[in-house]
Amino acid sequence: MTDVAEPIPAASVPLAAPAKPPAIDTRNLTKRYGNLTALNALNLELESGDVFGFIGPNGAGKSTTMKILAGLLEPSAGTAHVLGKNVMGNGDFVRRNVGYMPDFFNGYEDLTVSEYLEFFASAYGIPRRQRKKVVQDVLELTDLKFKQDAPTDSLSRGMTQRLSLARVLVHDPPILLLDEPASGLDPRARIEIRELLKELQRLGKTILVSSHILSELGEFCNKLGIIERGELIVSGTVEELMHRARAHPVISIQIDGDHEMAVRVLEKDARVDRVERNNGELHITLQDPTLHHHFLIEVLIGANVRLHSITPHQMKLEDVFLRLTKGIVQ
Ligand SMILES: Nc1ncnc2c1ncn2[C@@H]1O[C@H](COP(=O)(O)OP(=O)(O)OP(=O)(O)O)[C@@H](O)[C@H]1O
Ligand SMILES: [Mg+2]
Repeated sequence: MTDVAEPIPAASVPLAAPAKPPAIDTRNLTKRYGNLTALNALNLELESGDVFGFIGPNGAGKSTTMKILAGLLEPSAGTAHVLGKNVMGNGDFVRRNVGYMPDFFNGYEDLTVSEYLEFFASAYGIPRRQRKKVVQDVLELTDLKFKQDAPTDSLSRGMTQRLSLARVLVHDPPILLLDEPASGLDPRARIEIRELLKELQRLGKTILVSSHILSELGEFCNKLGIIERGELIVSGTVEELMHRARAHPVISIQIDGDHEMAVRVLEKDARVDRVERNNGELHITLQDPTLHHHFLIEVLIGANVRLHSITPHQMKLEDVFLRLTKGIVQ
């Protein structure tokens, strides 16, 4: 017997391929302007190929986030990485890999559309002999070929937005930060921008796109997040959010006369999760979302409530967001 311990054999763990860094990764990203916290500990992770809809009202912090990710604004705290590199101190890398479309047009009055794009192609270091081809390609993609000789300041708002987008595509960056590309557009121009974004998605771009309006983005984003007053209050893949939506179907009930009795009996019922008053209706969510709502009729009639109508709703993504952002459901 010896009290010398046997050497422990080295573990034969196979070497895993290094994980691909997220396309965008922010950790506790914070921006303060004096006393105002414009962005409060934002954690955002986008994989390559994700299209993330960043939705929030005016002043929520959307542009602030994008400017930091584009390397144009220094955070007060936290970090922002693109493709595994900190945006602070890696300006060249960020410029090569990120296309940032601001929420205003950065025009040059005297240039035509193609001169404008050639100017940016040269600024991005695209060799002269390739520039014409690159510019023609992005003009085609953004459907602006017919305006290539028009002065940039003669374009309509929709065309200007497309030109703005064309500008960030000339150096073909894998990541796009698009700040409200559809704002101020008529319905047709909105659809055109949406189609263009879908095309960029098909080309494999990672896109962070902001809007005030969920319905503008819900259709083609695979991830969505709502930001309010600098905080990301809900986010996830569309599937996750839809799953949450199905977990909370809402039954709207209209009653002739006083709501009080109905609210009282419904709130007492263990099968009922929540009763909300909404525009003269009652909105009911059930504890068990698979339970059929017929029992509500029995409960209400049993309490002599004069039921006018009862309608189950498959909750729309917009309604889920509304409820989540109001803190009605967790
Ligand atoms: N340079 C600045 N100095 C002081 N405050 C600023 C500055 N830039 C932004 N803010 C403030 O930071 C907050 C977030 O602004 P931000 O532009 O990021 O919002 P947003 O979500 O893009 O809004 P919008 O939908 O109106 O574009 C706002 O309260 C804004 O007033
Ligand atoms: Mg903004």
